[in-house]
Amino acid sequence: MNHHEAFHHVSRLIREKLGNIQAGTLGLVLGSGLSPVADAISGAEDIPYSEIPGLPQSTVAGHGGFLRAGKLSGRPVLALCGRVHLYEGFSARDACLPVRVLGGLGVSTLVITNAAGALNPLFDAGSLMLITDHINMTGQNPLTGPNLDDLGPRFPDMGRAWCPELIALARRQAMRLGLAVERGVYVQVPGPSLETPAETRAYRQMGADAIGMSTVIEAIAARHMGLRLLGISCLTNKNMPDCMDEISHEGVLETAGRTAEQMARLLSALAACPELDTALRPA
Ligand code: HPA
Repeated sequence: MNHHEAFHHVSRLIREKLGNIQAGTLGLVLGSGLSPVADAISGAEDIPYSEIPGLPQSTVAGHGGFLRAGKLSGRPVLALCGRVHLYEGFSARDACLPVRVLGGLGVSTLVITNAAGALNPLFDAGSLMLITDHINMTGQNPLTGPNLDDLGPRFPDMGRAWCPELIALARRQAMRLGLAVERGVYVQVPGPSLETPAETRAYRQMGADAIGMSTVIEAIAARHMGLRLLGISCLTNKNMPDCMDEISHEGVLETAGRTAEQMARLLSALAACPELDTALRPA
């Protein structure tokens, strides 16, 4: 099965299991240790990725993979709980198939979440960051290869990849809830090794505020299809070139788990916003 066939096959399978999705359904991608967000989804119906042949299967602890359909603050949501990463050996194109499928099912707004290291020295571990822009340092692109013309153009614009209206809405909701949120540029690296001090210094000088091993390639695939994007990082550690603490995967998951409570509150508040419907209208 090639990528295009897998896209149609997986979309058909999910439609058979869930029926047509409701207008205004919000898409979510939930990253490492962010299960408290998945727990906030009520009336959930889960489809394990293992029951959807054609979807890439995640292999890393903390990334247990399933698609969850349910409601968040009364709004229908389709959540990818767990994702696969480039460092597992997947191509960018395969890793982004699930996001493309959400778009194909009719999701028009997608919230992508992740665990990330803070490169901006003013940002603290345990806080949230709204992604305003990104840098792709993976050396890969999910759109490499023949363009899928029915999904989007050969050369999609990335000048406004992260929706300013959704960022403003998320900031207003965070303020209302008394949650501190940062805003900044996210850089994706391929991993799985963490950064050397020289690399951390280089990414900071490039203009990145947070660093992680996901999200940017998904954003590219989603923008290719014209989805509106909001990105939220859980800053799980400070990644500083001159006082590098050892970064452990367990530590990242533990801080992500704690910060995820704030993420769940913010996403529940956002899902309840009538203004989101304006943002959910096709661009
Ligand atoms: N670097 C890369 N990926 C990460 C980090 C980091 O410091 N923290 C969480 N994911």
